[in-house]
Amino acid sequence: MTSYMHIGEDIDKDAFVICDYRVTTNLPMDKAANSIAAEQSTGTWTDLTTTTEKIIDLYGARVLNIDKDMVRIAYPADDFSIDIGGVPQILSIIAGNLFGLESIHKLRLEDVSFPKCIMDMFKGPKFGVSGLRKELDRPDKPLVGTIVKPKIGLPPKETAEYVYESGAGGLTNSKDDETLVNQKFCPIEDRTVAVAEALDRLKSEGHSMMHAINVSTNGDKILELAEKVQSWGAKELMVDVITCGFAAVQALAEDPSIKVPIHVHRTMHGALTRDPLHGIAMLPVTKLVRMCGGDALHIGTLGVGKMSGNSVHDMQNLTWCLNDMNGFRTMMPVCSGGVYPGMIGKMVEISGMDVQIQAGGGVAGHPGGVRKGAMAMCQAVDAAYEGIEAQTYAETHPELKAALSKWGLK
Ligand code: 3PG
Repeated sequence: MTSYMHIGEDIDKDAFVICDYRVTTNLPMDKAANSIAAEQSTGTWTDLTTTTEKIIDLYGARVLNIDKDMVRIAYPADDFSIDIGGVPQILSIIAGNLFGLESIHKLRLEDVSFPKCIMDMFKGPKFGVSGLRKELDRPDKPLVGTIVKPKIGLPPKETAEYVYESGAGGLTNSKDDETLVNQKFCPIEDRTVAVAEALDRLKSEGHSMMHAINVSTNGDKILELAEKVQSWGAKELMVDVITCGFAAVQALAEDPSIKVPIHVHRTMHGALTRDPLHGIAMLPVTKLVRMCGGDALHIGTLGVGKMSGNSVHDMQNLTWCLNDMNGFRTMMPVCSGGVYPGMIGKMVEISGMDVQIQAGGGVAGHPGGVRKGAMAMCQAVDAAYEGIEAQTYAETHPELKAALSKWGLK
């Protein structure tokens, strides 16, 4: 069998896509790594009469390192399609057949680094953190938002009332939930128009707010739907990256007709990310979404919300939203899922100020209703911003006090 082993080789990092895989197998690890490198580049399960040494030298993947169950494999940049392959073709190499190889019991793509020549094929966010902050006139505090709840069932008028009330309570953001698109009880056109009126009313009262309308749909319809939603007055779009695909995010972000930010939800990500030994970690997803032009991305709740995850992994995602990445604008990290005011102090302590914190149940479940729920969220953010304990802040802020007595403090 052809060898793809290049242990310790000092490769030119600008000429390879480098992946770190966690591998569970009964095979000796070098054999397993070799079979992955072969399968994902110039080989297959047997030697081929059609493969030459030159082909393997130019396009063969290289096993650079094996450390216990971690295997590092480098793929030559020339293995990747010029211009038109996009993320679908990238994923078919770095995260394709290898997941189904019978001899590899479990495999998890933990991380990926892209060379400049690949990153240059992408444009990154159009708005990003600075663009969102500018639109919302919120220079330095965390953004604070809600997900309209119940996630399905409210008609357009009630949805718009919810948005208005949450803006009147001080929230900077709201959004459709991931399961809402264009159901009979809440047609997307009527909802978008009603929400736009609510946002205009808030604006006329001096408050800037955005609401992301969910345009997640089939590939041949998404751009058309996004254009329509924008023409009906949407100030932000939402797309589910796992169900619609990275290509959908990129298509929306790079189309010149789309002039509003794109909020990226990650529903279904748990099918990829949750098993610590199998699937794709959130970190490669974060990097790809930023390359594709997401302006904001759900990254987890830093170990304190309802979604599984931990602060170390979620902070890696947050770091890759905000670090220096090929000159791309930074992407707003969104902490969402089981959030309530009493956990915001801890969350902001971990995240810092460049974060969007949002709550559905933690707003609509407030004993005083949506407006007071929004006020409690904002008060918790203000307390964290000013470095004051939530309990102390609550002594002079009854809405926060009510939230703390209902849900407690983390
Ligand atoms: C989301 O879109 O993140 C969830 O719907 C959050 O809802 P929750 O704040 O009620 O958990």
